[in-house]
Amino acid sequence: MLTKTAPARKRSPAPDEDAAAPSLMLDEAALARAREQLDDGAVTPGFGPWRDDIVRLLNGALATELVCVLRYKRHHFTAHGLASPAIADEFMVHAGEEAGHADRLAERIVQLGGEPDFCPSTLVERSHADYDDSADLQAMVRANLVAERVAVESYRQMIGLIGDKDPTTRRLLEQILADEEEHADEMKDLLEH
Ligand SMILES: [Fe+2]
Ligand SMILES: [Fe+2]
Repeated sequence: MLTKTAPARKRSPAPDEDAAAPSLMLDEAALARAREQLDDGAVTPGFGPWRDDIVRLLNGALATELVCVLRYKRHHFTAHGLASPAIADEFMVHAGEEAGHADRLAERIVQLGGEPDFCPSTLVERSHADYDDSADLQAMVRANLVAERVAVESYRQMIGLIGDKDPTTRRLLEQILADEEEHADEMKDLLEH
């Protein structure tokens, strides 16, 4: 028995489709340049023109982390005087984690061929979050919650700005963002109890 088959329909190419152009081909010229520009280390031709902007963003984050370390340390030692050892210890744990963030940011800046800015005289003005020397425990927790929320917002914005321009930096910022969200959550809990 003969089955009737529908005549093959001719597919018309999409307007932006160029049948002659091969797709998903590597840029051989860029690979050749990658063999040569050894001074650039991890930064290869595909990185694009964003290196300086990304280093600038990372230095803003580095300044923020360093100010957070100083604020949490100040709070740790003075909260001990207020007979709040549990909260004081929490402040020290956060100080250590912010210092870890600062180290990872500085490491990435150097990997990108930039200069990590640890200059103390301009630290506060370059930081997104504020220093705080409140004497009262409740005020300390509130200042830390504000700072953590500022950190969360700034990392979220940075991740959006970097997008696919630098996947390694984006991953680093996403990991730090998750820690900052946890910090904000902990400070909110402390403020409520
Ligand atoms: Fe941090
Ligand atoms: Fe934090």
